[in-house]
Amino acid sequence: MRHLLSIDQFDLQEAEDLLSLAKKLEPIARRRMVTRVLEGAVLANLFFEASTRTRISFDAAFCRLGGAVSDTTGFTFSSMAKGESIHDTSRVVSGYADVIVVRHPEKGSVAEFARATNVPVINGGDGPGEHPTQALLDLYTVKQEFARVGREVDAAHVVLLGDLKYGRTVHSLIKLLSMYSGLRFTLVSPPTLKMPPDLVDRVRARGHKVRQVDHPAEAERGIDLLYATRIQKERFTGEVLEDTSPRFQVNKELVSRVCSQSTVIMHPLPRDSAAGANDLSVDLNDDPRLAIFRQSDAGIPVRMAIFAKLLGVESLVLSEVRPAKWMSPECLGPEDAPFYTFK
Ligand code: CP
Repeated sequence: MRHLLSIDQFDLQEAEDLLSLAKKLEPIARRRMVTRVLEGAVLANLFFEASTRTRISFDAAFCRLGGAVSDTTGFTFSSMAKGESIHDTSRVVSGYADVIVVRHPEKGSVAEFARATNVPVINGGDGPGEHPTQALLDLYTVKQEFARVGREVDAAHVVLLGDLKYGRTVHSLIKLLSMYSGLRFTLVSPPTLKMPPDLVDRVRARGHKVRQVDHPAEAERGIDLLYATRIQKERFTGEVLEDTSPRFQVNKELVSRVCSQSTVIMHPLPRDSAAGANDLSVDLNDDPRLAIFRQSDAGIPVRMAIFAKLLGVESLVLSEVRPAKWMSPECLGPEDAPFYTFK
């Protein structure tokens, strides 16, 4: 694999091998050990759309491997604002950096960057297309959370809820989860924001059950994973949300109605935290089933593993570690679940 553009590039074994490497890199991600395996290497982090998690975690992951980062954010501060093409931008940046991460508002644009360079290009989100590294860190989180409650991904009941049309994270995630066996998917979205039919057909063709509903209360109980997404109004091209009530809000009341004690609740973030928003409510913040910050933390080990693989240092990265010299908290956030500590 030269570039990482889509989940379609993986089979299940390759995805699981990558996540196994990420697991081994946790002591570096959790700041107990350090490595300089990428000393001298440069990452170009090119973000033409807003980002907090993807941009900063790619940057931090590369730094924790010993590399350095050059970045640009938005079109305004790039020469694309002067009409420079994706082709020229990609080739120019290849002269400066060893690996390129790109987020761009148009589907297929990151693949266009990749065609213009022999330096590895990683898709950090291409419009409503895919967000493959988010899906990999989501699967990493799902496996960790499921292991804690004693279940496997095979045969799980997964509810994907929210904007399933424009939510690129769910496009990549459903592809990845459907590599397992016998899952039951409940897809909950407004009628105008359904999962693209080709993806639904693909998942059914792999033998999974798919049910599409337009109200969260219609999700049958026995949910193993509830994955909520933000309604992406900024991508709407004429869609109208006829019902303006927050019926896609995932809050304590909904969770008490449809979830069990072992349901894992995830969201790629960002969420709209305004009261009454159609999104994941802050009233669940102290619920230990809410894995959203364990999920965002997973961006570091998973993205370190991706860099290690693309830059060919998988076999070196663990042989060159030494203890960190500074202090880090065992527990990263004051609301973190008691079981989420690093010793
Ligand atoms: N999950 C995610 O892609 O977040 P950002 O938009 O903040 O990068």
